[in-house]
Amino acid sequence: MQVFKTIQAMQDQSADWRRAGLSIGFVPTMGNLHAGHLNLCQAAIEQCDRVIVSIYVNPLQFGENEDFDAYPRTFDDDCRKLTKIGVYGVFAPTDAIMYPEGKAESTRVVAPAELTSMLCGQSRPGHFDGVTTVVMKLFNAVQPDKAYFGEKDYQQLQIIRKMAQDMFLTLQVRGLPTVREADGLALSSRNQYLTGTERQIAPQLYKTLQAAAEQLKNGAGDYTKVESEASYQLRAAGFRPEYVSIRRTGDLKPALPGDDKNLVILAAARLGQTRLIDNLPLTLNP
Ligand code: PAF
Repeated sequence: MQVFKTIQAMQDQSADWRRAGLSIGFVPTMGNLHAGHLNLCQAAIEQCDRVIVSIYVNPLQFGENEDFDAYPRTFDDDCRKLTKIGVYGVFAPTDAIMYPEGKAESTRVVAPAELTSMLCGQSRPGHFDGVTTVVMKLFNAVQPDKAYFGEKDYQQLQIIRKMAQDMFLTLQVRGLPTVREADGLALSSRNQYLTGTERQIAPQLYKTLQAAAEQLKNGAGDYTKVESEASYQLRAAGFRPEYVSIRRTGDLKPALPGDDKNLVILAAARLGQTRLIDNLPLTLNP
């Protein structure tokens, strides 16, 4: 498997593939790859002639007191996993390549505040501007035809779709369902921060979303009550919930009971030192 370290090397390779009529699939990651990432890679391998995975822990999307330094960096192990499944190459730039004049001096790509300041954006101001900026840079380095993201980061996926649409990007943004442990916990690199006891509690996050979805399917019309009850359940299990919110898919506006049928229930909650997010998309009968 090839490792590309510079923008030039990556762009030259992509241009060669393009000239040869080969399609390029791209999976952006911050490394520490798990089955969720590998699932995205498998889809890309099935749907594209060449697949590139980026491994870059983007400082711009971490807040002051977040886990940038602690974020697990497992490059050699990641490369072994990618080689095994047949990924063609890894794009692994340094900070100096991505932000040559420092991250504060970089041009930003900023999605509408309406979409970036709600939900996770409330407790992570600036986070999504960091994501859109790095993703646009990565897209321009790799020049893919299709880019793959997990639905686990549901708000991130909608923001990237909006960016692609508003910036007239010609690539396709594809979202794939969340991959889960047998007990329902969504796979995430941050799960490894959990203590043994917290790991046993963690699946309650998804179970709480499932219970809320059941209420909606059974006709519950007071969404604020469903959200409050879910938050209460999370607190009772030992979480410190940030939000549980029933939204419309796509624009993530608060869902209106009776009117909106394509919904997603999103939640973020802290368990000890770890911040977990999850979501459950559902369609109500018309
Ligand atoms: O989802 C992630 O791992 C990151 O936010 C991404 C898309 C790779 C950008 O750094």
